[in-house]
Amino acid sequence: MNKIVIFFSHAGDNYNVGNIEVGNTKIVADYISELTGADQYEIVTHKYDGMAYMPLIELAKKEAADGELPPYEGKAPDLGQYDTVFIGGPVWWGTYPQVMFTLFKDINLDGKTVIPFTTHEGSGLANCVSDVKKAFPKAKVTAGWSIYGHEVQADRDRSGANGASGSGKAKVEKWIKGL
Ligand SMILES: Cc1cc2nc3c(=O)[nH]c(=O)nc-3n(C[C@H](O)[C@H](O)[C@H](O)COP(=O)(O)O)c2cc1C
Repeated sequence: MNKIVIFFSHAGDNYNVGNIEVGNTKIVADYISELTGADQYEIVTHKYDGMAYMPLIELAKKEAADGELPPYEGKAPDLGQYDTVFIGGPVWWGTYPQVMFTLFKDINLDGKTVIPFTTHEGSGLANCVSDVKKAFPKAKVTAGWSIYGHEVQADRDRSGANGASGSGKAKVEKWIKGL
């Protein structure tokens, strides 16, 4: 079984965690790769670099309302060799950040097992699973999984690096084992 984690994560000023060096979702993506051997593709945009939390909230709100599709850096991944695709990102205004939907338009997940996950601060999976199902009607989209962003960030604070054994990592491990 070939697996890949496709994710977006915003480092910098964020809700509940201050100015973070590594985004919450990236910490989870790294745990998934460590635990399953999955490859990674990170969706990158420089649109939000250096933005403070409040202006970012406003910008993201407008992007979502307008259905904007901001471009990502580089090329879409070649997914031919993968049968399982984890998709992860933060919840922004009730769904994934718009730049993830830009990538979704450029990839084909027909017939693949798709496992959505989010990091959030109260909304859980919000609309992410249904929006992934809409984007990929011919994929086998599973139930999805979510975790509080500050919980995985706290793991990192303890160790100064990914790979800590805090409660966030333990939860990711339990989820992965149950798949
Ligand atoms: C623009 C923006 C919008 C957000 N909207 C929500 C939301 O609707 N629901 C929620 O639970 N958390 C929301 N959050 C909090 C993030 O989902 C949470 O901090 C997440 O762990 C960030 O992950 P990241 O560090 O990988 O980007 C929002 C954060 C930002 C920056």
